[in-house]
Amino acid sequence: MSLLLSPITIGNLSLKNRVVMSPMCMYEVKKEDGIVTPFHFAHYGARAIANVGLIIIEATAVQPDGRITKHDLGLWNDKQTEKFSQLVDSLHYLGSKVGVQLAHAGRKAVDAQPVAPSAIAFNASLRTPQALSVDEIKQIRADFVAASKRAQQAGVDVIEIHGAHGYLISEFLSPLSNQRNDEYGGSLANRYRLLHEIATDIRAQFSGSLWVRLSLSDYDQSGKQNSIADWQQVCQWLERDGIDVIDVSTGGVMDYAPDLPLHGGYQTPFATAIKQAVNIPVTTVGLLDSPDLAEYILQTKQADLILEGRVLLRNINWLADAAKQLHDHDYQPFNNSYQRGQLK
Ligand SMILES: Cc1cc2nc3c(=O)[nH]c(=O)nc-3n(C[C@H](O)[C@H](O)[C@H](O)COP(=O)(O)O)c2cc1C
Repeated sequence: MSLLLSPITIGNLSLKNRVVMSPMCMYEVKKEDGIVTPFHFAHYGARAIANVGLIIIEATAVQPDGRITKHDLGLWNDKQTEKFSQLVDSLHYLGSKVGVQLAHAGRKAVDAQPVAPSAIAFNASLRTPQALSVDEIKQIRADFVAASKRAQQAGVDVIEIHGAHGYLISEFLSPLSNQRNDEYGGSLANRYRLLHEIATDIRAQFSGSLWVRLSLSDYDQSGKQNSIADWQQVCQWLERDGIDVIDVSTGGVMDYAPDLPLHGGYQTPFATAIKQAVNIPVTTVGLLDSPDLAEYILQTKQADLILEGRVLLRNINWLADAAKQLHDHDYQPFNNSYQRGQLK
């Protein structure tokens, strides 16, 4: 049996395989109310029926102004929670574990006045954000915790705090977007403060598996971005704060393209650097379309779980194809009827 398609248990989270659907915004909330629609049942249901072990539902806003666009999902009221809960139930019925990525867009909000640690625009096409007051930061912290309670109520197995890609928490972490002089800016410990507060507050009430996604490089050439040693320190703090899994990505803080060749697994060395610093599982993501590459990464212990993004948008049946390529004869499709659909 391949490692990719074999089960894994992380704390109280048991997954039937090591393939995770990476969070991907679908911008399909046409009514602009943040509520799950039939699209989300079909979209995520299709990946559940195709045996994805864990589905992390797209960036879901913790407050209306924290959305990237008005078409994002949200978890700030009861109606949203009720429909979200039905979605989680249906994915559980289809055999997948379910996570949600809780997010605040920060200076990348396009349909609301953006806010950020400092009044520095992402680029010329996005508005200059308002720098948050300490009281406003406390409100956002409370909104993350309230959303995590709603996610728990809805029955998710995993909450992922979105600390990557230049959205609010990521903006606080990077010295390039955070130029505050108070307790939320300056030193690495101060820039970590917001994530620390949100993580420990959520940990105190959420009994499931708590993940954090981080961007390990801003692809900045000025020498000012956090170093890998800084990120190893942040991840040691996250482990101390009760985080179960670190999800390693890169980019998005600055409007710069990656300064390295975009081959399959280009982000995996960043995950491996974190694995060397912590004792909790670390995931990798980014052009891991080849099952052989994914299997090799797991076999060589460069990461513990494989996140798949765009390839699952192109090919719902990626897992069955992976089983064939890896000669994994133990792979079981969703049911016997689906088994009959597998060509010999
Ligand atoms: C349409 C789309 C939407 C995305 N939305 C999110 C998101 O909500 N949260 C997030 O952390 N990353 C998001 N990403 C990034 C993916 O989760 C993933 O990290 C990235 O696509 C690289 O993996 P891949 O090469 O397997 O696609 C998105 C990517 C795409 C293509």
